[in-house]
Amino acid sequence: MSKRKKNILFQLTGSIACYKACNVISRLVQEGHDVKTVCSQNALKFIGKSTLEGLTHRAVYTDTFEDRSALEHINLTRWMDLAIVCPATANIINKLAAGIADDYISTIFLACDFKKPYLIAPAMNLNMWKHPATRNSVKTLQGWGVNVLGTATGYQACGDVGEGRLLEPEAIYKEIVKAL
Ligand SMILES: Cc1cc2nc3c(=O)[nH]c(=O)nc-3n(C[C@H](O)[C@H](O)[C@H](O)COP(=O)(O)O)c2cc1C
Repeated sequence: MSKRKKNILFQLTGSIACYKACNVISRLVQEGHDVKTVCSQNALKFIGKSTLEGLTHRAVYTDTFEDRSALEHINLTRWMDLAIVCPATANIINKLAAGIADDYISTIFLACDFKKPYLIAPAMNLNMWKHPATRNSVKTLQGWGVNVLGTATGYQACGDVGEGRLLEPEAIYKEIVKAL
């Protein structure tokens, strides 16, 4: 990876694994990168804005219609060198693959031209991960050039054991570095 600091757009959705994403964000900031975070409304039920603001020293984006500069979702796609959704819920994966743009993260996604790396780090229950809707969406996204990372296998918060766990923070950090 070039030593130049990169602009990373780090997007979180409503998964129990949001706490793990904080380690990745912290690592990126410590390595000198500029990180802006976007949270879905449901991600905010798992993690507070203060944590992300403390880690990134920047305000968190949550509302497409918030009164910042106009068309901030377009500005973010110009600013970023890389985008990642981490953790990515089954909902956002299926929504992105369907081309729906009804929240901040999906609106940004539709404004991306895929000339820059776009990563998705899924985190969900094993049945959600194996669901035909999710399988089809992952294939669709990969076909568009999105880098959908794998998942880890193991204990899940619901008590099930299997695929769908978010990769460990170090593995996600390495994937980001590789993509850059
Ligand atoms: C305690 C709890 C944990 C959840 N964890 C996950 C998860 O890890 N992955 C997932 O896909 N959905 C999970 N969900 C369900 C999502 O939060 C739900 O589908 C939500 O609509 C996702 O919204 P978003 O994708 O806009 O953030 C969880 C829900 C609860 C109540």
